[in-house]
Amino acid sequence: MDAVTPIELNDGRSMPAIGFGTWQLRGEDGVDAVRTALESGYRMIDTATRYENEGAVGRAVAESGLPRENLFITTKLPGDDHGYDSTLRACEDSLTRLGLQYVDLYLIHWPLPRIDKYVDTWRAFIALREQGLVRSIGVSNFTGAHIDRLVRETDVVPAVNQIEMHPLFPQSRQRAYDREQGIVTQSWSPLGRKSDLLVSPLLAEIADAHAVSVGQVVLRWHVEMGAVPLPKSAHSGRIAQNHDIFDFTLSADELEAIGTLGRDQRLGGDPDTHEEF
Ligand code: A2P
Repeated sequence: MDAVTPIELNDGRSMPAIGFGTWQLRGEDGVDAVRTALESGYRMIDTATRYENEGAVGRAVAESGLPRENLFITTKLPGDDHGYDSTLRACEDSLTRLGLQYVDLYLIHWPLPRIDKYVDTWRAFIALREQGLVRSIGVSNFTGAHIDRLVRETDVVPAVNQIEMHPLFPQSRQRAYDREQGIVTQSWSPLGRKSDLLVSPLLAEIADAHAVSVGQVVLRWHVEMGAVPLPKSAHSGRIAQNHDIFDFTLSADELEAIGTLGRDQRLGGDPDTHEEF
């Protein structure tokens, strides 16, 4: 698979096989990073209202001069805006900040089961898709139980589930669930954030064997697992390098060895309890 081979979604649309993550990239730094990502070949940019950088992403997109139809822009609904009417308003506000007529993918950022409004929120997502303000709809940080409920109550299966995933937390069960439902798994913190993942001697050995970096090995692992990684970096060299993962493959033995790194321990929030307001 190469970077330009799109991933098919269950709603008939398609999505690039890798995207640029933008968490913590705000202001001018955010504009610069997204500009560099677009120049390096990324066509999917992942933002969220909670990241406070939709404006920066919108500026970089506008300044790139790239045709809108060649780009795939994702944003996410924050916790404060769960609920039917507030979701409709929040989406319009996101589009205004992004300076776009539509987003390619709109995600519920977290399920917030204590608040218990994610089904109503999902109904609003379905309406937004019908209105053409969003092209595809999905969720983030949802478990099988949350998704089962959406499907039971609305009959609409999310196109995407974006979850924390990296070799330390490989998400085998959630990925199997997503696959069975025809949902594409996207990985946030694909490089394991500030953990010790990138200094693993095992990964260094595999990287040497392919003459690539450890970061590239980890991102390639996501692709081999059938997931779509969303790496972020503020540095142009790493931004470009992270996109360049489509001309080598990992062997079955290497994948098995990487599998031994799993600790089944999250670095980020637990979907059943995490609250973001
Ligand atoms: P930096 O901006 O200094 O490049 P995550 O897993 O949450 O995406 O976090 C990855 C972190 O690792 C980023 O904050 C980024 O910081 C850094 N990083 C990104 N790409 C690479 C790479 N190829 N090699 C090493 N570190 C990387």
